[in-house]
Amino acid sequence: MASEGPRPLVAGNWKMNGGVAMLKEPRLLAAMLKDVKLKAEVMVCPPAVILRRVKSVLKGSKIKLGGQDCHAAASGAHTGDISAEMLKEAGCTAVIVGHSERRTNHQETDETVLNKAKAAQRAGLTAIICIGETLEERKGGKTLDVVASQLKGSLPPGSTAANTVIAYEPVWAIGTGLTPTTAEVAEVHSLIRKELEGLMAGEGKGVRILYGGSVKPANAAELMSQPNVNGALVGGASLKASDFLGIIKVYA
Ligand code: PGA
Repeated sequence: MASEGPRPLVAGNWKMNGGVAMLKEPRLLAAMLKDVKLKAEVMVCPPAVILRRVKSVLKGSKIKLGGQDCHAAASGAHTGDISAEMLKEAGCTAVIVGHSERRTNHQETDETVLNKAKAAQRAGLTAIICIGETLEERKGGKTLDVVASQLKGSLPPGSTAANTVIAYEPVWAIGTGLTPTTAEVAEVHSLIRKELEGLMAGEGKGVRILYGGSVKPANAAELMSQPNVNGALVGGASLKASDFLGIIKVYA
């Protein structure tokens, strides 16, 4: 485990999974983590409609609550959208923005993502800003350029280490069971750190850089031990308390 650096974060992105029937999982996780001394912050990001119910299940536990995406505006005529302020009111401390599923399915540009991240920070939330290359870009040797340019384009000016987390998620690794080699992960994370230090000066070294994409109990320790990997953004393996715990325990 790389011991230096900011306090890690392990966040579970439920995506469009988990109705009321799934409340037993965070309840179980909270119970399992009760007496575990953790070096990492733990968070679950369920669908918006059950945020309040998950919040009440997590009452008294160390597990934080995050939202999945927000609108850039605080309120207004935006049918179907949710503002960062609403997420804050529902008990969230963070929100995921710029996830590749949003970038692809909703044609979100870096500018859209930057505005959403700005909204999150305005509302007092931590913006978890996702970036990552496609398989085609990786094969074309463009990974570092793509990641650097997404980072520059999606990071609001004036961001701080407290209100910003970067999640490096290679698009081809999400939900596929494929992961980059540890050397590839280390290479991209070190580039992100360097870029953050350039963009944010002194704040850059305190920003947590998460790895995401097919993180599982079996590969978590190896991925998390890479330099500049300060935690994980976990999709599929965060849906079952026992799997998620297997990843979180890397930091126990
Ligand atoms: P996965 O998803 O862990 O299921 O690959 C990660 C993510 O999309 O955040």
